[in-house]
Amino acid sequence: MYYGVAYYPEQKNPQDLERDIELLIASGINTVRMGEFAWCRFEPQEGEFHFEWLDPVVERLGKAGIQTMMCTPTACPPAWMCEKYPEILYVDNRGVRRGFGGRRHYCYTNETYRKFSRRIAEKIGEHYGSNPYVMGFQIDNEPAQEATGRCQCADCQAAFRRWVEKRYHTVEEWNRRTGGISWSQELTSFSQIYTPVTAIEPHGISAVPVHFENPSIRLEFERFASAQQIEYQEIQNQALKKYTDKPITVNGTGLATNSINYYESFKSLDRYAFDYYPPMRHTKIGTFAYGFARGVKPGTPFWIPEFMSGGGHGLRGHGRAQTPPGSLKQAVVHAMAHGAQMLLHFQFRTFPYGAEQLNYAIVDIDGVPRRRYYEMQETASLLKRLAPLENAALTTEAAIVVDYDALWALAIKPVNESFQYLSFCRMISDTLNRQGHVSDVVSLDADWSGYKLLVLPALFVLRREYREKIKEYVRGGGTLLATFLTSVKDEYNTGWIESLPAGLTDLFGVTVQEVEPADERTSSILKMELPGGTVYTKDRHWSELLAGEAEIVGRYTEDYKAGQGVIARNPYGKGTAWYMGTMPEEDAFAKLLSHICEEAGLTKPEITVPAQYCEAVCREYEGGKLYYLFNFDKEPHQVDWKGTLVDYLTGEKHQDGALIPTDGFLILLKEAGRNEQG
Ligand code: GAL
Ligand code: ZN
Repeated sequence: MYYGVAYYPEQKNPQDLERDIELLIASGINTVRMGEFAWCRFEPQEGEFHFEWLDPVVERLGKAGIQTMMCTPTACPPAWMCEKYPEILYVDNRGVRRGFGGRRHYCYTNETYRKFSRRIAEKIGEHYGSNPYVMGFQIDNEPAQEATGRCQCADCQAAFRRWVEKRYHTVEEWNRRTGGISWSQELTSFSQIYTPVTAIEPHGISAVPVHFENPSIRLEFERFASAQQIEYQEIQNQALKKYTDKPITVNGTGLATNSINYYESFKSLDRYAFDYYPPMRHTKIGTFAYGFARGVKPGTPFWIPEFMSGGGHGLRGHGRAQTPPGSLKQAVVHAMAHGAQMLLHFQFRTFPYGAEQLNYAIVDIDGVPRRRYYEMQETASLLKRLAPLENAALTTEAAIVVDYDALWALAIKPVNESFQYLSFCRMISDTLNRQGHVSDVVSLDADWSGYKLLVLPALFVLRREYREKIKEYVRGGGTLLATFLTSVKDEYNTGWIESLPAGLTDLFGVTVQEVEPADERTSSILKMELPGGTVYTKDRHWSELLAGEAEIVGRYTEDYKAGQGVIARNPYGKGTAWYMGTMPEEDAFAKLLSHICEEAGLTKPEITVPAQYCEAVCREYEGGKLYYLFNFDKEPHQVDWKGTLVDYLTGEKHQDGALIPTDGFLILLKEAGRNEQG
């Protein structure tokens, strides 16, 4: 596993640099990430390239066993470039050009910027491509972060027109597909295509108050801007590839920024990589992001080029809670248990300067190593002992489909303030996690055949061609759980002119009769008949009344809805399709899901953990089982099983259970066939 930190030698005076290098070497880490914000050092003047400031650091660290992940610095176009070529600057949806002085102030479409980016990537590739101390490359830094994913400059506008023309060929087709006749929006020429200005990206602001821009053009613009950024990144990828065969990636933001379709973005990159800053103060680390990390490039281990290093001051003004002793080490092992092949803390030592001044780091501003440094040191040595476990297989039996069209369409035209697509998907993943099931997050295009349970949460937009794929999955024996808001719209973000769920009513055996948001005006009680007994609950987010041949498992019990179906189960081919017309309350949903998992034949967890605080991850190891047990709480917790498990690190035998320490973990082995004898 690549373990280490982000490091910024360009910010150091010689004494500090010396001190840091000594500390880095003494820490036992094996990787540093460097260069991503240092364009003004790499190219202090147009066409003049310098590496002599970085080479000795790469070499000294390398000789001491610390490899470098080298980054291209394109997140920070330097002052000379912004001054001489102001057309490279980002234009937001108010038409305001973002000035020099922050970061990410560039347009990913602008040809001049693309030319400079290609050149610096080539220079870095040429210089470091075969350097034995460089283990791989990162392009840019968190593309689209800080609301820079929807540029509106003249170049982007022109490119959007070309994009639309290329996809729709004629204005008549565009008008027909996007319902131009509505509100007199029929165009007579592609020159009339405009870029919508209503923002949905995180931290984006809409300058124009809501004026209900056409949802079809808005979704097309989301796809376009995502594709432009992928095209931009690909320029750098190709430039680097000319000079290196080491892995190249970009550090995405996981499921945080969502302005780039990562299934597309990582296709031509060698690793899925994402930065992760989960809350860690006695809080379970969210595993939804890890499920997605496994699902973006199935079969390839993922990287985390930035991860928490501690707490203190923060970039956005609210600071970050300190990580309690043991929790960094625990988090690293946890990421590894979920399939990470790299984890680099952001960052090594607190900066005195710039926007990141005073922010959290492994080592404080004074360069004195304290507990987080020693914890990193212990973690580095622990990882060496855990190296043999890295290839243990992780078998996942459930997957959740997350789709960018659905995400964007539900943000463009939300259904209820309480309902957020990704939080909803995350909640399902967390519920599975609490029941002891590790789930993946996958795309509509993924191979689902290995999963026993597939969840389709609110698949609002569904192209016709996926209908058959979904049915085929169930026909072949899969268990499918879909929810309200499934297959409501086509790929043009216009409503399917069909009964809902469009094209899938035979699969689910129901047709949606009536819909409304579930909120304080409308919320109603429903009851579910489950094998464990009748469960009463309230609806949440959205409510759909269902009727049809399917078995009705959940019915409303009050108001005019009394007796009407809301949750249905339908055997189909060799499998079963469930349709949940609303979201039951947390406990009731957990009961329903647990029943569905059982019916789907998911392996029952052999370890019982207090799921609010703890997690067990099971992997296959040398014909036996390997259990990672984590306790994220501020108290120790008891975890139970039947038989004997052996502590991988100490050799100690645990019979029928063990206590997991505060913010700690256990790594236990069950040898094949050895359980009964102990
Ligand atoms: C990340 C970014 C880092 C750093 C960090 C916050 O999003 O990639 O460069 O700014 O946030 O400290
Ligand atoms: Zn632009």
